[in-house]
Amino acid sequence: MPSALDKLAFDAVQAMRVSWFFGQKLLAARVSRPVPLPESLRGRPMPDKRRLLSDLWTLIEQDWRNIEGGYYARPKDGLGSPFEAVRSAIDFFADLSAVERRRHGAHEERILSEVHYGGYPRYYRQKFHFQSDGYLSAASAKRYDHQVEVLFGGAAAAMRRQALVPLKAALTGCAAAARLLDVGCGTGHFLREVKANYPRLDVTGLDLSAHYLAVARRELRPWSRARLVVGAAESMPFADGQFDATTCIYLFHELPPGVRRSVVREIRRVLKPAGVLVFVDSLQPGDEPDYDAMLDYFPVAFHEPYYASYLREDLDRLWSPGFTPDQRVPAYFSKVVSYRRDS
Ligand SMILES: C[S@@+](CC[C@H](N)C(=O)[O-])C[C@H]1O[C@@H](n2cnc3c(N)ncnc32)[C@H](O)[C@@H]1O
Repeated sequence: MPSALDKLAFDAVQAMRVSWFFGQKLLAARVSRPVPLPESLRGRPMPDKRRLLSDLWTLIEQDWRNIEGGYYARPKDGLGSPFEAVRSAIDFFADLSAVERRRHGAHEERILSEVHYGGYPRYYRQKFHFQSDGYLSAASAKRYDHQVEVLFGGAAAAMRRQALVPLKAALTGCAAAARLLDVGCGTGHFLREVKANYPRLDVTGLDLSAHYLAVARRELRPWSRARLVVGAAESMPFADGQFDATTCIYLFHELPPGVRRSVVREIRRVLKPAGVLVFVDSLQPGDEPDYDAMLDYFPVAFHEPYYASYLREDLDRLWSPGFTPDQRVPAYFSKVVSYRRDS
């Protein structure tokens, strides 16, 4: 059972993270030129800074209750070495002018049109979030985690961690022999959280970007039984029924509707009967009505070509037939939904 001192240490670390990343979010907004609100969004209320911070702290309190409840261990969630933290921040701000140029530039600048990007699906050859090189360079992979934390004001790690709650139920009794697949694992942040809690669990991460997997490989070096595979989620290089649990975090809003359906079929194929899928992605309209206008503005301010269609996707219908919804956990800008594959 964590002590009062543990709680104090946890709060101090989280307050430091929020100050660091939320501060950079505010600074980035100050030095950037906002994209004007489209007519359809004018007059619709958006949460202000105070509300965002209050909801962020609600997430952190929920994170602590999960730690107290034994769902996962207190995370090693600091900022790392001060040198590395400052280096990442400098790199993030140095790239901001290129991001701004794309945000206000011609539509073609959002596409990865360079020849050596051939071989990837067309929908993927985009500079998602206006980020330099899209997902296809070592520099982008190195910048990604910092960028995401700034976007969410320091909440990204805690939002992903909420997936460990339904995962615990899925792994209870079988963690030693079970196999987990993280689809679209990126730089492996969530897999690190999984391994910190289930060091003997056999985990596989799948992603289209070899550059992102190179970062994941480095970060997962302390653990054995971690495999990283380059491949597409819509045609996974795995045999049927290999995995006891699958996680899919912040992938679906980046896929066109047809590809989402192919990924659902593939996850169903590689999961064992009665296996569990833990899905984490953005809130959708109606989940938190005060955020609805902000969700509609998001793909206008950031390059997210498929996000608007994700917002209108009926997730339970998307996973049906084949999956039955189980737990639902709110997580600030995100939601966690677990599904059990039918036997
Ligand atoms: C928004 S990032 C999320 C990464 C990670 N899950 C996280 O929580 O940070 C989306 C990831 O999905 C990967 N991705 C996008 N489309 C994919 C596809 N069709 N198959 C496999 N990976 C894909 C990208 O390369 C990127 O690493």
